[in-house]
Amino acid sequence: MIHFDPKTKIFHLQTKNTSYILQVLEQGYLAHLYWGRRIFPYNASYLLRNIFRAFSPTTDPADPNLSLDTLPQEYPGYGTSDYRQPAYQVQFADGTTASELIYQGHRLISGKPRLDGLPATYVENEEEAKTLEIHMYDTVSSLSIYLIYTVFETFDVITRTVRIQNDGKEPLRLLRVQSMSVDFHHAEFDMLHLSGAWARERWMYRQRITQGTHSVESRRGTSSHQHNPFIALLDPHATEDTGDVYGINLVYSGNFLGSVEVDQYATTRVSMGINPFNFSWSLNPGETFQAPEVVMVYSAEGLGTMSRIYHHFYKNRLLRRRYRDEIRPILLNSFEAVYFDFNENKLLTIAEQAKDLGIELFVLDDGWFGKRDDDRTSLGDWVVDRNKLPGGLESLVKKINELGLAFGLWIEPEMVSLESKLYKEHPDWCLHIPGRRKTLSRWQLVLDLSRKDIQDAVIKMISDVLSIAPIRYVKWDMNRSLTEIGSAALSSERQQETAHRYVLGVYRVMEEITSKFPDILFEGCAGGGGRFDPGMLYYMDQVWTSDNSDAVERLKIQYGTSIVYPIVTMGAHVSAVPNHQVHRVTSLKMRGDVAMSGNFGYELDLTKLTEDEKEIVREQVALYKHIRHLVQKGEFYRLKSPFEGNSAAWMFVSPDRHEAIVFYFKILAQANEPLERLRLKGLDPVIQYEWIEGSEVFSGDSLMYAGLHVPLLQGDFVSFIWRLKKVEI
Ligand code: DGJ
Repeated sequence: MIHFDPKTKIFHLQTKNTSYILQVLEQGYLAHLYWGRRIFPYNASYLLRNIFRAFSPTTDPADPNLSLDTLPQEYPGYGTSDYRQPAYQVQFADGTTASELIYQGHRLISGKPRLDGLPATYVENEEEAKTLEIHMYDTVSSLSIYLIYTVFETFDVITRTVRIQNDGKEPLRLLRVQSMSVDFHHAEFDMLHLSGAWARERWMYRQRITQGTHSVESRRGTSSHQHNPFIALLDPHATEDTGDVYGINLVYSGNFLGSVEVDQYATTRVSMGINPFNFSWSLNPGETFQAPEVVMVYSAEGLGTMSRIYHHFYKNRLLRRRYRDEIRPILLNSFEAVYFDFNENKLLTIAEQAKDLGIELFVLDDGWFGKRDDDRTSLGDWVVDRNKLPGGLESLVKKINELGLAFGLWIEPEMVSLESKLYKEHPDWCLHIPGRRKTLSRWQLVLDLSRKDIQDAVIKMISDVLSIAPIRYVKWDMNRSLTEIGSAALSSERQQETAHRYVLGVYRVMEEITSKFPDILFEGCAGGGGRFDPGMLYYMDQVWTSDNSDAVERLKIQYGTSIVYPIVTMGAHVSAVPNHQVHRVTSLKMRGDVAMSGNFGYELDLTKLTEDEKEIVREQVALYKHIRHLVQKGEFYRLKSPFEGNSAAWMFVSPDRHEAIVFYFKILAQANEPLERLRLKGLDPVIQYEWIEGSEVFSGDSLMYAGLHVPLLQGDFVSFIWRLKKVEI
């Protein structure tokens, strides 16, 4: 619901449990009054408290207490007396950068308009959301900024974005455009972010904020392994189940900045958007710039509730293709099974074994095209290698299908290898700066997808490949960061637009290809989880979570990823031991349980397993078929954090709370260990649940408030599962 009181000029945005309140001041400034637990008074003016501060300039002689230096502002600028992090900055034709936004008007729209060229959450009908567009204006320059809020009342979510329009007569240059900014009246916060590195993505980091600026950002051209475009501010006492949490997640896959500034008077400004570093955008008179969307979630009940709100919203209003509603297949991926060394026969032998164990989809990863016997060549030459596959993809897919398996294929459309026909023919198609080295990473260069002609060429090349045979799944990889970010197609004053134009180009290519092939299940990947963000999830139904498939390491990676992203979007595979990334030997049982806590698959040479191991795999596959509706469609509850000790636990509950599955993992064995009870969450307290494997019956309340006995598990790297089902009386 969005309410506007013309007398007080207060906007009150309300979701099921949240209020977000703004006020237009007499002078036309837009002040931020409140974001938090839902409240009812519309007369919220009392929340604004201005007092005179030495050294804080005043903009209105009639009101010396009002200073932009201290005013909580909804979309602050720079240069006219606010010294905190600005939400935007513009350079005008005369070279100056000061500006000031004054309220011009607003309009209410039913539903939610689409964002041109950008991924965004959506409505299925106009009743499920309302959008508020507030027009702010800098009178000196005729710059218009539209602040756009969509309230998804029942999803409990508010989205924000910004559109900038040059209504003046001179060109201008945008130097900074954040998608949101919020000022809190206090600084009693911890900041949580999801950071890491390749093979160590999205670990949880939580720290107390103090006066100064705390930020996460990417300058790599992708959202990155190093930082995720997500931050949360938490009450320092907030836990998984209690306390105020404010989540902010940018629907964008390129350079971003999320920053939190605590100022001299212990107020906090948080903002998120495209990284202003190495960014500018020229706007001619009449032109507009659309910023990416940010998804904002407040929870009064800790991190768990925040995560479930994100999961529910993204599963229903960000994912949008056929697979939004369908159960995902169990796959076998060839990469860690054979890497680049295979022929048709070898693949078919593994596929036969996969079929026999109950697996449903065979994915041919890297190495099937050009002369790709290692990662040094052939990207861009999307023609099958007949030495490995003499009958081409047609023959392989036919034989795989005849075995009763669907077929999936790996591609890396955004790249070109230095050693490739494509590079020889078009050495100028990569991102580069004339006269400078073209820096290689994994022996490859990045195609300049800011250019429409190259986007079109890639769309054609990839569409041709996907039309060869009935391909049902595609893994869309991206294996390097951007360097020498320049485009031959852009004038000198527009070179700093290249990184953002690259992302827009990737989005267009993805939009075209995914719409052309609506029945293909797309999995995004960037050297594992280097581009696991909501922008990708708009096009890619799921994402390869990390190249690190070690069961112990995956506990942290999957737990951290679950803070924002739905479990169904997390690719998770059982791989061989010793593990190829960390060389650890873990039990097949634990590897299976960790991978089953995501979008399940295998990535190893099944023909090398012993008969006993094959039996375990057969049972795992059968079990996952029974539980995947819970894992993929159910609600996720975190029970024990792998960041805090030697064990981890989580559970899934069906929407009607009649069914649940609980996973418990112990990393290292302990002598003479204490007994442990695990308290469950999300069950119905008055329902009687049968523990399927143990055939005991427990009431929901005792499982949640007294807990389940954890069995004494022997050895390192062990796990345990409980399946619970409502007793039908
Ligand atoms: C990186 C991916 O994350 C891996 O799973 C695999 O597909 C390789 N690329 C292939 O080169």
